[in-house]
Amino acid sequence: MNNIKIFTEENYSELSRRSAQIIKTQLDAKPASVLGLATGSTPIGTYEELVRLYKAGELDFSQVTTFNLDEYFPIAKASDQSYVFFMRKHLFDFINIPDEKINIPNGEATNHAAECDEYEKKIAASGIDLQLLGIGNNGHIAFNEPADYFPSVTHYVKLDDTTIKANSRFFQNENEVPRHALTMGIKTIMQAKKILLLASGAGKAEILCEAIFGTITPKNPASVLQLHHDVTIITDKEAGNLLIPRQ
Ligand code: F6R
Repeated sequence: MNNIKIFTEENYSELSRRSAQIIKTQLDAKPASVLGLATGSTPIGTYEELVRLYKAGELDFSQVTTFNLDEYFPIAKASDQSYVFFMRKHLFDFINIPDEKINIPNGEATNHAAECDEYEKKIAASGIDLQLLGIGNNGHIAFNEPADYFPSVTHYVKLDDTTIKANSRFFQNENEVPRHALTMGIKTIMQAKKILLLASGAGKAEILCEAIFGTITPKNPASVLQLHHDVTIITDKEAGNLLIPRQ
């Protein structure tokens, strides 16, 4: 387990502060870092803290490049449910990252296969220094849902019923949740130099514990992180409840 560092924080604010500090350390060491970013509820506090640090003059994003993990498909960029909208609302509109350095899979693409191909090539050209991840209730990372194999590169995916249900909290009702998405693959994620996974709330405790200490299996996609050489996991007390420190 030397490849996985685990921090179990008292609460969500502490989790978010620790996470933002790790990103700050990355940017202090390499101002032109490439960051992989996530959406969902869990990283919102981290983004708030990054904005705070930026406004306090402690962070500069002018040389940073970002790649988001995923996007619904199809979806209009202007839709308030798109991940483009989410990232603007929570981070990009408040920091000095140049627009041309922001990359999010294009939910408006006419050809999703070509879009995935292009996205993967773009990531491969720069590499990702630090990839931020959440974990789904079913163990998914990005939108790599439980399956019989680990999907490799950026691809078009049908969302699991459990994911549609979980994400319906952001929509008027479940029927409005898009059924498909474009997502980085497991190989794409595993090629990042460092991985930072955040988990908050009791609902994530069991799947996270299984992912870290259980069998490595595509049935729990996050379990593949056991094979990555540099993973940091930050949880709050509830999500870290079952993670008994092991030597
Ligand atoms: C988001 C993403 C997803 C979420 C996961 C957890 O870009 O790729 O894998 O990280 O669904 O979502 P929350 O944080 O809302 O529990």
